[in-house]
Amino acid sequence: MTDHAPLDPSKLTDAQLASLTSGGSVWDTEAVGDRLPAIVLSDGPHGLRRQVQGGDALGIGDSIPATLFPPAAGLSSSWDRDLIREVGATLGREAQALGVSVLLGPGINIRRSPLGGRNFEYASEDPFVSGEYGVAFVEGVQSQGVSATPKHFAVNNQETDRFRVDARVDERTLREIYLPAFEAVVRRAKPWALMCSYNKVNGTYASECHWLLTEVLREQWGFDGLVVSDWGAVVDRVAAVAAGLDLEMPPSGTDGKVQDALGDGSLPRADAERAARALIQLEARTRAARLALPPGEVEAAAGSEVALRAARASIVLLDNNGTLPLAPSSTPKLAVIGAFAAAPRMQGGGSSRVMPTNVTDVLSAFEATDFDVRYAQGFEFGGSEFGSDARERNPHALADQAVEMAENADVAVVMVGLPDGAESEGSDRASIDLPWAQVDLLERLIATSTPVVVVVSGGSVVRLGQWRNGAAALVQGWLLGQEGGRATVDVLTGATEPSGHLAETIPLDYADTPSYRYFPGRDQEVVYGEGMFVGYRHYDSAQIDVAYPFGHGLTYTTFEYSDLRVQLQDNGTTAIDVTITNSGGRVGTALAQVYVRQDGDPQSPVHSLRGFERVTLAPSEGVDLRVELDDRAFAAWNVHERRWRTAAGKFTIEVGESSRDIRATAPVHHPGDGLTAPVEPLSTIAEWLSTERGREVLMPLVRKVSDSAGGATAAPEMREMFLQMPLAKLVAFGIGITEADVAAMVAKANG
Ligand code: BGC
Repeated sequence: MTDHAPLDPSKLTDAQLASLTSGGSVWDTEAVGDRLPAIVLSDGPHGLRRQVQGGDALGIGDSIPATLFPPAAGLSSSWDRDLIREVGATLGREAQALGVSVLLGPGINIRRSPLGGRNFEYASEDPFVSGEYGVAFVEGVQSQGVSATPKHFAVNNQETDRFRVDARVDERTLREIYLPAFEAVVRRAKPWALMCSYNKVNGTYASECHWLLTEVLREQWGFDGLVVSDWGAVVDRVAAVAAGLDLEMPPSGTDGKVQDALGDGSLPRADAERAARALIQLEARTRAARLALPPGEVEAAAGSEVALRAARASIVLLDNNGTLPLAPSSTPKLAVIGAFAAAPRMQGGGSSRVMPTNVTDVLSAFEATDFDVRYAQGFEFGGSEFGSDARERNPHALADQAVEMAENADVAVVMVGLPDGAESEGSDRASIDLPWAQVDLLERLIATSTPVVVVVSGGSVVRLGQWRNGAAALVQGWLLGQEGGRATVDVLTGATEPSGHLAETIPLDYADTPSYRYFPGRDQEVVYGEGMFVGYRHYDSAQIDVAYPFGHGLTYTTFEYSDLRVQLQDNGTTAIDVTITNSGGRVGTALAQVYVRQDGDPQSPVHSLRGFERVTLAPSEGVDLRVELDDRAFAAWNVHERRWRTAAGKFTIEVGESSRDIRATAPVHHPGDGLTAPVEPLSTIAEWLSTERGREVLMPLVRKVSDSAGGATAAPEMREMFLQMPLAKLVAFGIGITEADVAAMVAKANG
């Protein structure tokens, strides 16, 4: 069946075309006889969820075992492009082994609020980190001949009312915060497929938004793959195909509507042919690279090995008074406390849920070392875990036992975190807090004289209360996939050096978060009122204290930064060179983060991450590290001209180990992009005078006005008023110029 010449969409009947614009079943595309075989799509972003019989989209049914990698919130904290690419490639190989041609991931929506129910599936609060994550992931998956599917395009940053909610976002914020990760992935990694979201974007369902799916995605960014709907995202199939959607999933059984619309001409045939062509091309692309593997099992050991490295690199060391790394020689008696130590949180709920090939937990991993290990559960799950009435419902027996055990140990390692049900597709979190019973336990443990090491599991950040000041060490353990237990013990004992950094700020309180007043909206609408000030862009600009800043992550060593050099290059990129030296006693990985700020512009965030590089250094080793910034590093989206512009002006380059730990700073004067906007009738006099051609055309008129006003325009306030006046407005002021004169001047000035 693969020997035929490719199907020609122009030769297909209306009925065939219509049928190709939706799937054949929940996880398969439609076939055309033996000319176009069906291909299989499968979740997902951190492991294959290949369902065999009677698949369901809700994550209820079981799937074939596959490697469960750390979900994006963890893996993105590695800031390690090579590792992310390797995870993608391993996912691609597992997809091949399970007969899957299209992998439904990565998720690269922005983590707008810590309460976002699917934050665990998304990379970051920052668009640059999200884009780098997405590019590496897609490159990895597609290197194995399997299509990746970045999702959910676009502005899907909450689960509340996700099928209907209208996300209202201004265009600069869209272009600078919510679209750049998708843009980077499309332009650089060239995904073969992309998934549109359920929600509306500024009044139009993403699945029906011509501006998003055609103008931005295809015409501006050059996407040449297939646009698939999120499962059930299509409202009006005909409108969706016309807007740029190629494939409705799962099939809704409404092919007749598309066929009728083709028949009566209300859907141009070219749109349906475009959709069919995209599917034919996707099948051909994935077939060309199909390995000759009979669908079967994944290579579990190989997957576990990658998952283990990925989990280690995801862990972020937030604080450490020297208690870590733990060694059996200095603290032999170890109290391992907390239900998650034995029953790890590995992943979140919903369509991304994977059936792992293996499970490791912290308790067993510690038991395999030379420590003398005791375990106490400390708390249990279930019922109402948050809120003031939780206190009454939580008996102290488990906590009492844990406190007693801690008192008799040299050190206590406490595993706390969000309960399983708190993080899932389909709902947002109700609270930023840890469950009450855990907070209570932590407070009691901190009050003992035993050093307490706290590891927090969760796919998004939680409020770290007062107790954190009493912790000997604090670790953000995210959700780490199936090898998280081993990885955590490796980092706590120093068998692996901690190297992760936060890709999401940990605020002090929920009320400090930028979208606090807007999230998750009401009456089917959510207003993105915080604009571009998302995450650290908000905290740093408004100078709000946080628990741990964006980019933060400690190691067991220290680094010194010196000799920052900045070079604007002819091709529009910027080279940032800095010398980094390992000034501590252990090997470690430095993460140089480059932030750019436009001086004196309160309408832009004080920090915008524009580049980063990691480097691993032995004690005393130094290196000159280069970070290349692309031509967007100094640009802003101009909403009037509807394009990127770089204004001439002063900027500051800051290099640091977090957005609040800036180690080197350099001023830069950027000459600007040199572009000029064409003048329009409503261009101001100042705008006319800002270009040579405009000046030439306008000067005779300026002189005339000045003469007729008897030189009054020379008074500073009059002069300013005149300069700010749109040219066409002068027509009404009786100085003898007409609309036709203005039109002629515009034509002349624009050449
Ligand atoms: C999710 C997608 C997922 C799809 C298929 C939807 O509910 O939003 O992320 O890929 O289901 O399972």
